[in-house]
Amino acid sequence: GSSNTDDFGSHMCNIMGQLEKIFTKAVLSAYPEAVSPMIQIQLSKHADYQCNAAMSLAKSLKKNPREVGQQVLKNVAPNPLISNLELSGPGFINIVLSKDFIRQQVTNLILTGVTPPPATPVQVVVDFSSPNIAKEMHVGHLRSTIIGDSIARLLEFLGHKVLRLNHLGDWGTQFGMLIAHLQDTFPNFATEPPPIADLQKFYKESKKRFDEDEEFKKRAYEAVVKLQAYEPLHKKGWEEICEISRKEFMKVYERLQIRIIDRGESFYQERMVKLVKELNDAGLLEEDDGRKVMFGEGTDVPLTVVKSDGGFTYDTSDMACLKHRIDEEKADWIVYVTDAGQSQHFKSFLACAKKAGFYNDVKTRVDHVTFGVVLGEDKKKFKTRSGDTVRLIDLLNEGLQRSEEKLKEKDRHTVLSPEEFEKARDAVAYGCIKYADLCHDRSRDYIFSFDRMLDFRGNTAAYLLYALTRIRSIIRTAGVKPEEIEAEAKKGAIALEHEKEWKLARTILKLPDVLVQITQDLYLHPLCEFLYEVSTVFTEFYDNCYCVEKDQSGNIVKINMNRILLCEATAQIMEKCFSILGITTVGKM
Ligand code: ARG
Repeated sequence: GSSNTDDFGSHMCNIMGQLEKIFTKAVLSAYPEAVSPMIQIQLSKHADYQCNAAMSLAKSLKKNPREVGQQVLKNVAPNPLISNLELSGPGFINIVLSKDFIRQQVTNLILTGVTPPPATPVQVVVDFSSPNIAKEMHVGHLRSTIIGDSIARLLEFLGHKVLRLNHLGDWGTQFGMLIAHLQDTFPNFATEPPPIADLQKFYKESKKRFDEDEEFKKRAYEAVVKLQAYEPLHKKGWEEICEISRKEFMKVYERLQIRIIDRGESFYQERMVKLVKELNDAGLLEEDDGRKVMFGEGTDVPLTVVKSDGGFTYDTSDMACLKHRIDEEKADWIVYVTDAGQSQHFKSFLACAKKAGFYNDVKTRVDHVTFGVVLGEDKKKFKTRSGDTVRLIDLLNEGLQRSEEKLKEKDRHTVLSPEEFEKARDAVAYGCIKYADLCHDRSRDYIFSFDRMLDFRGNTAAYLLYALTRIRSIIRTAGVKPEEIEAEAKKGAIALEHEKEWKLARTILKLPDVLVQITQDLYLHPLCEFLYEVSTVFTEFYDNCYCVEKDQSGNIVKINMNRILLCEATAQIMEKCFSILGITTVGKM
């Protein structure tokens, strides 16, 4: 109804979502007998939007669609969004948005920045990155890191309370052999931190001994038992190894500006002991060849809760971890970001948690956000030439170097100070790596290609970051100061008379609808598509509408302030998209 005016007085409206509400009400007042009608609002060539509800409604009500369309149209309550409705074809309703409303929205955007679509704040855990100690942090973890960080940023922007957790693999049986090897190679490890420069090499060495030497293997097993009983010297060895690993991970997080709290599997040791006892007492565990397993409802793959040697598994820690997050962290929503290969694991432990009674999917929303494999340009699993796993830090370094070459090639004419250049290089390098991941449908495999991601044409961060600097430079060249922009906006300078101005305004105002959609399915690529669309529509606007008019000798003769304001609004929208994607922007490049 008309209360919408108050609702969107100062913040951005999710226009499509609001139109859906308006039309749902109209349908229900025209046809109270229609049960939960599906109302879809679409973009239209003939108007701003179109509502096609009449077609399916007419079918289920056995009425003429045009007549139904007419009835729905008549029942649309007065509201500030719509200026005109028209019935067309067999019963489509064309929707023309109110210019005043859109002008007001753009003005608000300039004055108060991009505001989030309304959401009830909840407590969310985002479990992402989560590499395994001592094993390599590989490109799969890079995907989890990038996608998880972006989801966390989105949820933070929406006003949720987000706990970013790194579920490190820091408690597996691999620690037995690592500690045994540590005892042999650095016997003084308890007093002098072991100078292990290459933990992966150290891991490989101990694995080799483990596989070849029975005596060593036995010691490794004993070491696990002692570690899990918190024997001080074993615990110390474990801590030293974790510390070295963590320092390596931190380097990657710092480069990519990732905030995350370490809370690995080891954190849950005592809770696992307690939970296993509870499950056992409740009669939920079955014996299977010396192991204790549990079946959830509707899954035929059981969880291994206790191994035959009495140790716990990845399954056990995820059960205890989920319980902790629900009962102690009071999470309303938990998002896990891992490769698609773990789907079965998640299905199984969630089903078991339900059966055990501590997880209820109506009360707690759980999303397993999965992603595909990273492929090399040869479409095979991403590896170095020699077939090794690519180290993330090497990958980031290569990105920096490639970005530097690319910028040098491009910027023969622009003069950047060394500082500006470095900023641009970093922004482009890390931005491209993140964007290349986020702009693809995450559920699919994707091909990692520096050449493609650093292309200054097409849907790449290189292009989009550059596009943003161009918009900023239009405002700079015009010499318009932020205070002036604000004052002009307050005066109501946004005009939207030219068709391309109108198109640009409508396009940038789609952001809230895009964000609402992402909140539902946690697919981020539509945000990248939106960003690309904004920059394309901006170019169309810029090619058709003078912002600054110059005479033949290049002196500014006229500044079209209303258009400068549109530039400012567009820049703010793009900045917000980049910020949700975790990409740093620059003023010049
Ligand atoms: N450490 C795991 C891996 O490397 C990912 C952990 C994901 N989080 C979780 N709660 N299971 O694949």
